[in-house]
Amino acid sequence: AATDPGSLRTPIVAVLGHVDHGKTSLLDKVRGSAVSEGEAGAITQHIGATAVPLDTVSSMAGDLVMADDFDLPGLLFIDTPGHHSFSTLRARGGALADIAVLVVDVNDGFQPQTEEALDILQRTGTPFVVAANKIDTTPGWNPQADAPVQQTYESQTDRARERLDENLYEIIGELSDAGFSADLYWRVQNFQGNIGVVPVSAMTGEGIPDLLAVLMGLSQRYMKTEMEVDLQGPGKGTVLEVKDEKGFGATLDVVLYDGTIEEGDRIVVGGVESPIVTEVRALLRPKALSEIRTEAEFERLDSVQAASGVKVAAPDLDDAMAGAPVRVVRGRHLEDVIAAVEEEL
Ligand code: GTP
Ligand code: MG
Repeated sequence: AATDPGSLRTPIVAVLGHVDHGKTSLLDKVRGSAVSEGEAGAITQHIGATAVPLDTVSSMAGDLVMADDFDLPGLLFIDTPGHHSFSTLRARGGALADIAVLVVDVNDGFQPQTEEALDILQRTGTPFVVAANKIDTTPGWNPQADAPVQQTYESQTDRARERLDENLYEIIGELSDAGFSADLYWRVQNFQGNIGVVPVSAMTGEGIPDLLAVLMGLSQRYMKTEMEVDLQGPGKGTVLEVKDEKGFGATLDVVLYDGTIEEGDRIVVGGVESPIVTEVRALLRPKALSEIRTEAEFERLDSVQAASGVKVAAPDLDDAMAGAPVRVVRGRHLEDVIAAVEEEL
């Protein structure tokens, strides 16, 4: 690693796809928890942010990700809902993303929100990989817990492997119909012009090492210059949700994508009527690897650096808007920052 990891920000990875194709389960697997079980109606209602530090990525991916080969501090995953009525949240997740994972149920193939997610990724020019999920449901499958794809392939009968390949080639065909050149990820030389398809199972963990390795590789190779932001500069973020918290009143769940936010910082937030100018009373965050929207207990922080999911407690946030920009004023003219927020709305 040539560069000081402290100078590069964490890439933001949006997880998109049709309802029930396994987005939350994939993140659960990565997180080692089971958020989806606690979800109302088992359908993701809102966006959540999950930070996975490089060490964790590396230990999950085994030989496929050597921490020493990477300068990036890890990955920040944004979960999104697949239900058709949440298109605004999907678009917001897509807009925030540096890279994305499009989750496709390997049996179901392309569905309406798969197409919608592809449109978002195309519109925003976001590089992505396809996670062909639920490979464990292939008839005759012999599961290999948490194994890389190659190892799990070698453990299958010819018949099971052929059945999976049929489904995978169907997905590759559907990508091609949608105008994307795609192939199984180990055949892809140039990830800029081609979409890699990674067979995975959120249930057994098969292929997760490969998925993490491809995401780290994509980030490192193509995103590095974009990750070289001024991490000490005034923070910029997007409001995912406005939520009441006991003892704090209205708070903001924010994805910070640039700079730093500190306790006591003056901030400008997009509001229903007009931008809100307020001061950060507390920065609250669940620990790395946990989920911003389900943790009841928060760690209180003095400052937070991009990219991160963080809960911001401050006065006068009742009229703050989900999807609105958040900007730290520090060292700049308040009027300029208000103008910048208004422009983004
Ligand atoms: P929404 O957030 O509602 O869009 O759904 P989602 O994409 O987050 O799907 P979720 O992770 O909630 O999974 C939907 C269902 O598929 C659950 O019952 C999961 O247990 C199941 N599932 C997810 N991944 C796998 C997998 O790899 N294998 C098997 N067998 N089942 C899976
Ligand atoms: Mg979900």
